Amino acid sequence: MTLSTYDLACSAPMIPVIVIEDIAHAVPLAQALVAGGIKVLEVTLRTPVALDAIREIIANVPDAIVGAGTLRTPADVDACLKAGCTFGVSPGAPDALMQAVATNKFPFLPGCATPTEAMRLADQGHEVVKFFPASAAGGAPMLKALSSPLPNVKFCPTGGVSLDNAKDYLDLPNVVTVGGSWVAPVHHMIAGDWDAIEQIARNTAATLGN
Ligand code: 3PG
Repeated sequence: MTLSTYDLACSAPMIPVIVIEDIAHAVPLAQALVAGGIKVLEVTLRTPVALDAIREIIANVPDAIVGAGTLRTPADVDACLKAGCTFGVSPGAPDALMQAVATNKFPFLPGCATPTEAMRLADQGHEVVKFFPASAAGGAPMLKALSSPLPNVKFCPTGGVSLDNAKDYLDLPNVVTVGGSWVAPVHHMIAGDWDAIEQIARNTAATLGN
């Protein structure tokens, strides 16, 4: 069954923005997040091992729902589909990228930071979009201001979101989930402290709920 991006976003207490530098981290990181209750994972295409990491997680952590982030080009869409990604995420929505997404019917969270960008994506059929960079682009007050004029657009704010401020966003009627890197701190990954990451994930899932 193919889940819509909307269903995926609504099912996730938050979507971790993951940067994997060492392929050896991929599987234990995903196992820790899933064990802690965070199953929808966004592995960013920011490192040379990102696609291999995605393939390893898909092969070894069956309960993870694995997507790719930081997609910028049609080639990124091709690579993600070949790797088996369930969904994709982008900080923006350039025309060529969106054309590839539409051609492939790829479940996708495109990025926007303004009302016009959000309206254009809604016109293209995107029920939920990423609001990025959330805190720099106006934070929760900005999304609150958009909820009345744009009731048809739901958001996943990302960028500067933390466990301390996530509820400010999630309490809004137009926010279905949030994204953030706080559940996969680099220092814990380098130390191989997967128990610490599982605990952060567990605390995050319990605090944000569904
Ligand atoms: C990113 O682009 O890295 C994401 O928006 C995550 O931002 P954060 O590190 O502020 O959570």
